Amino acid sequence: MKEDIERVLISEEELHAKVAAMGAQISRDFEGKDPLFVGVLKGCFIFMADLLRCVDIHCSMDFMAVSSYSGVKSTGTVRINKDLSEDIAGRHIIIVEDILDSGVTLNYLKNFLQQRGPASIHIATLMDKPARRKAPVFADYSCFEIPDAFVVGYGLDYNERYRNLPYIGVLKREIYE
Ligand code: IMP
Ligand code: MG
Repeated sequence: MKEDIERVLISEEELHAKVAAMGAQISRDFEGKDPLFVGVLKGCFIFMADLLRCVDIHCSMDFMAVSSYSGVKSTGTVRINKDLSEDIAGRHIIIVEDILDSGVTLNYLKNFLQQRGPASIHIATLMDKPARRKAPVFADYSCFEIPDAFVVGYGLDYNERYRNLPYIGVLKREIYE
């Protein structure tokens, strides 16, 4: 598997340091607010597990599954494959995403959840590719701003593979071209 990676973009040490700092910041900002973390599956699963172990205030968590990607291309339409199991009216929501790319997914999701009357919605993303933004969304919390490259690992996939890589790597072009 590792032979398919052109280079390591973010090492395990860098990931853990930034994720811990984000957890501490969110803990300060949401003290006493009992936030509900909403993880966007599947890409969020490692990031969310690490992040939440660095959050030391009362909180709860739930998950959604959406799809907009096919291979390395965004299809532009978002589908909800799994909805929340908790009522979010009056709750402080923190959406946990692996990467904010065009912003189409999060823009859709934010508007979708807004209709259920939460107290607030914030976005916590591991990575942000601001150069590719098409929809008007920004991250309230972001660990890394990255250039426009297709990355895998630490939860992120290419055709369901590489999620188990412990770091963020740039995939060799020949793998997807
Ligand atoms: P957006 O709707 O274009 O912002 O895409 C967001 C989703 O696309 C992310 O949650 C990822 O699942 C996926 N995605 C975007 N860029 C990458 C990448 O470089 N590698 C793997 N998945 C990506
Ligand atoms: Mg995702």
